[in-house]
Order: sequence, then structure tokens, then C-alpha cells
Amino acid sequence: MQGGEGGGHTGEVATTVLLPQVVDAVDVPVVAAGGFFDGRGLVAAPAYGAAGVAMGTRFLLTSDSTVPDAVKARYLAASVRDVTVTRAVDGLPHRMLRTDLMAAGQVAGVIDDLPSCAELVDRVMAEAAEVLDALPEGGAPTRA
Ligand SMILES: Cc1cc2nc3c(=O)[nH]c(=O)nc-3n(C[C@H](O)[C@H](O)[C@H](O)COP(=O)(O)O)c2cc1C
Repeated sequence: MQGGEGGGHTGEVATTVLLPQVVDAVDVPVVAAGGFFDGRGLVAAPAYGAAGVAMGTRFLLTSDSTVPDAVKARYLAASVRDVTVTRAVDGLPHRMLRTDLMAAGQVAGVIDDLPSCAELVDRVMAEAAEVLDALPEGGAPTRA
């Protein structure tokens, strides 16, 4: 499933609201998409019941991606508010950069580097391990 943060054709409901509904409604593994770009998301998605995450915009913005450098530069320069939803392309809601052509997830606004895919996967896994280590013993939230 893809929450509204995701790039390209998308819906109105944010991943944090849509994902638990989908997990509750179906009896098959759910892969969460829309707004994932780092190890925090990789840890958070299973907490919602997802089997894993799919990252579109994050892998588009890698040195291995065949997207032209000038186009990547436009994504990297974008802020979160530069990524909007329009029906101007084909009548359906489409999340894009404020350009004529470039589909993009909102995370384009928080991504500012072009790692290789291998570097990215290693980084996300390391971040996820750090996040898990930092959780309280047993994973239960505690009061400050
Ligand atoms: C440039 C771009 C093109 C996309 N094209 C398609 C597509 O043709 N079909 C599709 O099902 N999803 C498409 N998507 C959505 C991705 O498959 C994925 O669900 C989405 O990127 C996840 O959200 P994220 O960008 O926040 O990671 C596209 C996304 C981007 C950024």
C-alpha cells in the first residue's frame, strides 16, 4: 500500500493512517510505501504491522539511478513544500515536484545526497539497528 506522501499517483490518506487500516483489513503481508527513506521508517513500519517497506523516491536519488544528473539536482534542491499533488497530468491525483514532469515523493524534500544503492541499504540497516538498540528494554515505551 502507498500512503499519500508517496510519489506519482497517490491518495489523500497519510501512510501513518492508511497502513494500520490496511493491515487490519487484509490477511496477507503488507509492504508499506510512501514516505520511507531511512532506518527509522524501517523500524516503524513493522510496528504498524507491515512486513517491510518499499522506497521509491529514495532509490531514485542514488548514484546508481539512471535518472539524469540535472533531474536529480532538481529533486535534491526541493523542500518538502515543493512536492505537491496535482490533477493536471491526467486527471488523477499525482504527487510531483512543482515542475511540468517530475513525479516525486514528499521525502524528496528531506533527501540531500546520492549514495550508491549498496551504501544506502547499509546505511538504512545500520540506522535501523541503532534505533532498535535505543528502544527501551522489551521495546515498551516508558514515561520520561
Ligand atoms: C518518479 C516516480 C515514478 C513512479 N511511477 C510509478 C508507476 O509507474 N507505477 C506505480 O505503481 N508506482 C509508481 N511510483 C510509486 C512508487 O512505486 C512507490 O510506491 C512510491 O515511490 C513510494 O513512495 P516514496 O516515493 O515516498 O518512497 C512512482 C514513484 C516515483 C517517485
